[in-house]
Amino acid sequence: AIITLRQLLDHAAERGYGVPAFNINNMEQGLAILKAAEACDAPVILQASRGARSYAGDIMLRHMVQALAEMHPAIPICLHQDHGNNEATCLSAIRHGFTSVMMDGSLEADMKTVASYDYNVDITRRVTECAHWVGASVEGELGVLGSLEKGEAEAEDGSGAEGKLDHSQMLTDPDQAVDFVRATKVDALAIAMGTSHGAYKFSRKPDGEILAMSVIEEIHKRLPGTHLVMHGSSSVPQELQDLINTYGGDMPQTYGVPVEEIERGIRHGVRKVNIDTDCRMALTGQFRKVAMENPKEFDPRKFLIPAMKEMETLVRDRFERFGTAGNA
Ligand code: G3H
Ligand code: 13P
Ligand code: ZN
Repeated sequence: AIITLRQLLDHAAERGYGVPAFNINNMEQGLAILKAAEACDAPVILQASRGARSYAGDIMLRHMVQALAEMHPAIPICLHQDHGNNEATCLSAIRHGFTSVMMDGSLEADMKTVASYDYNVDITRRVTECAHWVGASVEGELGVLGSLEKGEAEAEDGSGAEGKLDHSQMLTDPDQAVDFVRATKVDALAIAMGTSHGAYKFSRKPDGEILAMSVIEEIHKRLPGTHLVMHGSSSVPQELQDLINTYGGDMPQTYGVPVEEIERGIRHGVRKVNIDTDCRMALTGQFRKVAMENPKEFDPRKFLIPAMKEMETLVRDRFERFGTAGNA
């Protein structure tokens, strides 16, 4: 069944587990995620970015997710808009069957300029009011994603955001978080603690200096009833970097968010964990392997079947380690 983010995360909070939110753009990603969910009895969050909506089309996405729900009647599924940039993106998503939207007011609608706190509160409050009228959930974001290591904020596409930022804007302020949740009535709150999108998060294994998990603990103390969301939570596993580089790739050595840090977050109120990059790397690693090992191959299924298998293994591991397994 297709359910809202609120329903799903309330259950997760009650039982103390976290739910990975995987980005989808195509059928194969949907099939791999649901296969893993079915195998370990986990509820799922499928999220589509604005880029995914224009890649696949809203009608395709809606029918694809309905098909996945029909194929897996025992699995609760939430369809969520990732990084909505304005009212139009969020409301059109709801009209196309999304049961949840992220109104990301941490950046202005161009997704390049860091927004003021007042702008963020105002637009998030208005979207939340409309979404709640029609039974959809809302995730807001307070704080700007980016690298504490490099001291750079990040636009949604992974490039640099405009506007001067000090270190403190890249870490969500706990007092402001209390005010923000009260003013906007969001169902879930994304917070910033030093992660960024994409594969190149950290140039060394992160410590508390560059991945400030303590911020989560502080916020959870002040807002024990609020569902917290971690963005940029791919772990960028060494095995997948090696798989890609063994078969002709050229990805410089990099470090993501260790799964044990996410597990620590889940013990302190994190309920939704956004993962896109790891799934992309799993698929691409197998594409490269098949292409190099079988240069005569041209049937796309011969690439996609091992790619889905690799992604399914990764997704299942996250369901198990986040405690999602067994909770469908
Ligand atoms: O927030 C970023 C997600 O990884 C989505 O990326 O905009 O390239 O689809 P995308
Ligand atoms: P990753 O790039 O770390 O997978 O983060 C995805 C994300 O936060 C989507 O909103
Ligand atoms: Zn994100």
